[in-house]
Amino acid sequence: MTSNIKWHETTIDKEHRAKALGQKPSVIWLTGLSGSGKSTIANLLEKKLYEQSHHTYLLDGDNVRHGLCGDLGFDDKARVENIRRISELSKLFVDSGLIVITAFISPFKDDRDYCRSLLQAGEFVEVFVDTPLAVCEQRDPKGLYKKARQGDIKHFTGIDSAYQAPTAPEIHLNFMDEPPTATAQRLYELLKQKGYVS
Ligand code: ADX
Repeated sequence: MTSNIKWHETTIDKEHRAKALGQKPSVIWLTGLSGSGKSTIANLLEKKLYEQSHHTYLLDGDNVRHGLCGDLGFDDKARVENIRRISELSKLFVDSGLIVITAFISPFKDDRDYCRSLLQAGEFVEVFVDTPLAVCEQRDPKGLYKKARQGDIKHFTGIDSAYQAPTAPEIHLNFMDEPPTATAQRLYELLKQKGYVS
């Protein structure tokens, strides 16, 4: 399909843009079950980075599924395509110099690894928001687990659709008993300590 299309190098590249923005572009990829706290933590992290004058963009499952991925459902094929689009978009945003934060269930290891493969070493930071299914189901902020248990929603992650937990994430968050603000602060500190953000 792309055999007759050549890649055009641009004079201004990622390094120029990163330098202009004064930061190291990256993707902070949050993965976890629905209700695990991804969106809340991602939002708080973005606020923290913004306060430190970083240039960021937050991509969130529920929002992206209103637009770019509005045509996709939740069977395995649709989820693969969802994450493929997000991965390509993240790569473009990293190329633009931004720190991208993503909050998608992203249940399949191969799809998360696909995003990693599009980026350079150190640019993809997998963050496992490891809140157990029982806790997510008890929280059930959108009432979706209840519907899934009743059979009103099909292919619900953790109920009748698989979640492949990361085995070697860059950052593992399993602090569901502390307030999200504390976890976001913890994540921010870890990102700094490990050199992903300055
Ligand atoms: S992903 O699996 O393709 O990465 P994504 O993060 O975009 O999922 O969307 C998940 C959100 O869609 C959930 O937080 C929930 O609000 C909603 N949702 C609706 N149907 C489902 C379903 N069958 N499984 C999981 N989430 C669902």
